[in-house]
Amino acid sequence: MTNTNQKRTLGEFIFDNQSSFPYSTGELSKLINAIRLAAKITNHEVNKAGLVDILGDAGITNVQGEDQQKLDVYANEKFIQTLKQRGIICGIASEEEEDFIAVNSSDGKNNNKYVVLIDPLDGSSNIDVNASVGTIFSIYRRISPLGNPVELKDFLQPGKDQVAAGYVMYGTSTMLVFTTGNGVNGFTLNPALGTFYHSHPNMQFPETGRIYSVNEGNYVHFSKGVKAYIKYCQKEEEDRPYTSRYIGSMVADFHRNLIKGGIYMYPRIGPKQNGKLRLTYECNPIAFLTEQAKGKATTGTKRIMDIEPTELHQREAIFCGSIKMVEKLEEFILNED
Ligand code: AHG
Ligand code: MN
Ligand code: MN
Repeated sequence: MTNTNQKRTLGEFIFDNQSSFPYSTGELSKLINAIRLAAKITNHEVNKAGLVDILGDAGITNVQGEDQQKLDVYANEKFIQTLKQRGIICGIASEEEEDFIAVNSSDGKNNNKYVVLIDPLDGSSNIDVNASVGTIFSIYRRISPLGNPVELKDFLQPGKDQVAAGYVMYGTSTMLVFTTGNGVNGFTLNPALGTFYHSHPNMQFPETGRIYSVNEGNYVHFSKGVKAYIKYCQKEEEDRPYTSRYIGSMVADFHRNLIKGGIYMYPRIGPKQNGKLRLTYECNPIAFLTEQAKGKATTGTKRIMDIEPTELHQREAIFCGSIKMVEKLEEFILNED
């Protein structure tokens, strides 16, 4: 349990660090505050999932044809509602919505500067089994001129242009982990007080680790290089075999690897497929956190954050985590055949 006497609250952290936030106008702080609030509301609902009739499918599928669960719908609504009300964002895109949503400023002048992209509930197949789920968010400055309605291009910026990104993990404890480009900081919710405390300052990936996280059920579809790397992970050597750990919730798998050292992989599943995870809602924010935590995030051949997105719901392969492990994987990909 967090020692509430010694740790700063998230509110205090934001206040103390405001000047180091990009552009430091106070708007980004308000945005993080809005995410904090939506996270608490969603957390409350996730925690009572086993108690109320909110488990199971909502009977509808999302734009990508996947079953949508009730808590996905709930989290989607709460994050959108909370972010819209603050008068800071000009638009929001969600994994659960086909198109982006334009948000007008209260004076109707379209002068709000930020866009947010969210995966409101990540790992939603874990809800029924009481395992960890999360929320992932990514924040950019708009590139279209102030005064005009937000445009698709505001949401299709490369990950390297993010001004902030992070996730909420609804796990054993609820945590908010984010970066504004000055390292990665983690905050743990004290549920009794409803306050996030600065429990994990300056989070960094160990240079190397002993955990690999991948859905090995897809093994036969992986490229030769990825298969060879997995065999390398399993080989009996000084520090190997590595341990395989896969929750099926990117946030939870990433979070564990960040703390313990490891590599997370969601490769292409066959030559014509582009991986499963969404570039804008999952890969980019996780890549920003990875680099800020001194790790590496790649498609196998290219830095994730350099990709110019062409579609809102684009999918990419991703490998991220401890730098030495990701570099080793890249070696295998480069030298396949
Ligand atoms: P979402 O619940 O937002 O659709 O994301 C699920 C993602 C990611 O969190 C996880 O790592 C991955 O899908 C798991 O996919 P597989 O079940 O194919 O391994
Ligand atoms: Mn997801
Ligand atoms: Mn999701």
